[in-house]
Amino acid sequence: MRVTIKMFACVCHGVSHRRVEQTVRDGACTISDLGRRTGAGTGCGQCHHRLDALLDQLRARRATPKAEALAAK
Ligand code: FES
Repeated sequence: MRVTIKMFACVCHGVSHRRVEQTVRDGACTISDLGRRTGAGTGCGQCHHRLDALLDQLRARRATPKAEALAAK
């Protein structure tokens, strides 16, 4: 039996971490950008700290491409 675990970055709008990552790769830089493109963060606002952390993490990865390449292996 295969179990799929989906991590939500924003529960109100069912936006997954993966979708946030893809949206950042497509050019989103701020929580407002994410909100416009996915709806994330436009409900209760409880996810803002999580979205901020994800944005920081993804920016850091972008700044160090070697780390991302190693992580992909
Ligand atoms: S959990 Fe993201 S807006 Fe409510």
